[in-house]
Amino acid sequence: MTDKDKPETIPTDQLIRLLLTLKEEAEDQIRQSDVSYEELRLSLFGKESELTKLSQSMRLVPKEDKQRVGIVLNQVKQSLEQLLSKKAKESGLVNEDWMDVTAPGIRPPEGHLHIVTQAIEEITQIFNKLGFTRVRHPEVDWDYYAFESLNMPHSHPASDEWETFFINLTPGVKEVHTPGVRSIVLTPHTSNGQVREMEKGILPIRMINIAKCYRRQIDVSHTPMFHQFEGLYIDKNVSIGHLKGVLDYFAKAFFGPDRKTRIRPFHFQFTEPSFEVDISCGICNGKGCRLCKEGWLELGGAGMVHPVVLKNGQIDTTIYNGFAFGWGVERSLMMKSGTQLDDIRPLYNNDVRFLEQF
Ligand code: PHE
Repeated sequence: MTDKDKPETIPTDQLIRLLLTLKEEAEDQIRQSDVSYEELRLSLFGKESELTKLSQSMRLVPKEDKQRVGIVLNQVKQSLEQLLSKKAKESGLVNEDWMDVTAPGIRPPEGHLHIVTQAIEEITQIFNKLGFTRVRHPEVDWDYYAFESLNMPHSHPASDEWETFFINLTPGVKEVHTPGVRSIVLTPHTSNGQVREMEKGILPIRMINIAKCYRRQIDVSHTPMFHQFEGLYIDKNVSIGHLKGVLDYFAKAFFGPDRKTRIRPFHFQFTEPSFEVDISCGICNGKGCRLCKEGWLELGGAGMVHPVVLKNGQIDTTIYNGFAFGWGVERSLMMKSGTQLDDIRPLYNNDVRFLEQF
């Protein structure tokens, strides 16, 4: 075997010594040099650098020593990198605040109005066109406005139909109207706005009261908090025909031009006569299908305002009369063509993936 054929080797200790010497020299170079960061980097770590050449000698290190030398080599590299970036920062060689103003930006996620808010705005606009004005009345109100003023005395069983939440009175709060245990309620319907609106003393009344309502119910078509819109029209010589006209106008504007309404006799303490309002099913167009069974979907209540309610609102029943209706916003959304909403609970689960669709 000649010298040439013999695989070249390098004594391990010698290589380690060379590495440590290189480290010291390079450290001095970093500290003293005033060349640019890039130049310095190239001379320390570039292809032609001492360090690269020494790294390449790794293959000449006997197998059993490779790990030991490898550790030293990495430490030398790391400590030089650190020193270089420290120096670069101190001397302002690298500007960390630098920013590429031409790079495309990150678009912040853009929200939109909740579908219930969109519906409230649409409903408000439709009734505005008929001369109704949106008003606000309390959503936590005296029992008097939610029941008693609506012809349901305290013990009247009719009020049991509303699964009402009652509020305990804070000691010291003076009760108004009839004192009793159930004095303050989370309004179970928007009808509390009827006598409140009459008490303003301005006639005629064309109000649309849209507010949160609360009932102890939860299933596919009920949530404990929901919204109703209540219409009240008080004027001279108001007829059921006027009510029907308003219902039809709303149904066509909100649900679509092909939809029809019908009224069925019903009972409410605060209207006489009272009706349940149905709207023709948007899926089968009134023919009857799985959703509606007989072609109609129930929208909500309506009727001619009861004289007792008018009297409670200080209105002269010999001159004035009127109609009222109260329907659910979420329910109307479910019946609107195209929403395909078959469960109202997700409206309030706050899952953006669901809400984004509308
Ligand atoms: N307040 C009634 C309800 O919540 C609906 C209604 C309003 C009925 C106005 C008649 C007149 O069921």
